[in-house]
Amino acid sequence: MKKIAVFTSGGDAPGMNACIRAVVRTAIYHGIEVYGINYGYEGMMKGNIKRMQSHSVSNIIQRGGTILKSARSEDFRSAEGRRIAYSNLQAQGIEGLVAIGGDGTFTGAKRFHEEFGIPIVGCPGTIDNDIFGTDYTIGFDTAVNTALEAIDKIRDTAAAHDRIFFIEVMGRDSGYIAVECGIGGGAEFVLVPEQKTELQDLVKTFKNLRKSKSSSIIVVAEGDDAGSADQIMGAVKASINDPEKEFKVTTLGHIQRGGNPTARDRVLGSRCGMAAVEGLLQGQKRAMAGVVNGEVCYTDFHDCITKKKVLKDDHLKLIEILSI
Ligand code: F6P
Repeated sequence: MKKIAVFTSGGDAPGMNACIRAVVRTAIYHGIEVYGINYGYEGMMKGNIKRMQSHSVSNIIQRGGTILKSARSEDFRSAEGRRIAYSNLQAQGIEGLVAIGGDGTFTGAKRFHEEFGIPIVGCPGTIDNDIFGTDYTIGFDTAVNTALEAIDKIRDTAAAHDRIFFIEVMGRDSGYIAVECGIGGGAEFVLVPEQKTELQDLVKTFKNLRKSKSSSIIVVAEGDDAGSADQIMGAVKASINDPEKEFKVTTLGHIQRGGNPTARDRVLGSRCGMAAVEGLLQGQKRAMAGVVNGEVCYTDFHDCITKKKVLKDDHLKLIEILSI
């Protein structure tokens, strides 16, 4: 293999730049020409492909976002879109790809490999931590720390006014961010999509809490079945029906996706980036490079996108016990 290309796709995540840097420099170290594709699959279809050198990735390891830009591409879902993308790669003589992103990115990569045979190795780049085949995804640690910093600040004002705050965090259909923020932020209750919460249980917990606590923090994962933080707050407020109690909602939103990556995300991004290039050289064809129990490993895209990463029960139990 003499020429490879790297791209980022889907929602950006802090640590993606560290990963791009590792891909570029590992390729150069092994004597391979490396290209960067801007705007993910969208850029691949538009031929937005440029040669990268070692200096192209200088001074980026500490930066959030992605220097290669990102996009969610509709057109790549069509056979015609993928055919155009492949012919653009062929025109540049590109023989292998490194795809940095989440499950949508890997779904596209699997299809692309099946249709055209081009080897693709993925790196798990998403704040959601919802990818099977890696203990953590690149960006998750930074997102949790960013959310935690906000929750700490909300706690100050919640305590000062004896208020109850419902804080909505990202994660799509996964409760990982909510659970880590719940434990780290000392939340009284956490609602996650992986565990159904009955409104009456939440209200009951609440009534018990009010005997010992004047303010409370409830973390709500955005994908929870019970609804948005706003809807859940409305339902709880109506059930408690206490005019003296003040309820507030804060949706943290995209603040969780930005900022300088933590050390853990820089290291994880760098490890996965190097492993992706070395995987391509060793003959990996359609797998993700992740880290499980501290060791780099490769997981077939099929498993990454079809197997569900399970939330640890003891984490949810921990929140319940520590909130008394
Ligand atoms: O997958 C990352 C993520 O930030 C999710 O947590 C969230 O649901 C989604 O992306 C938001 O996507 P967008 O930035 O396209 O609105």
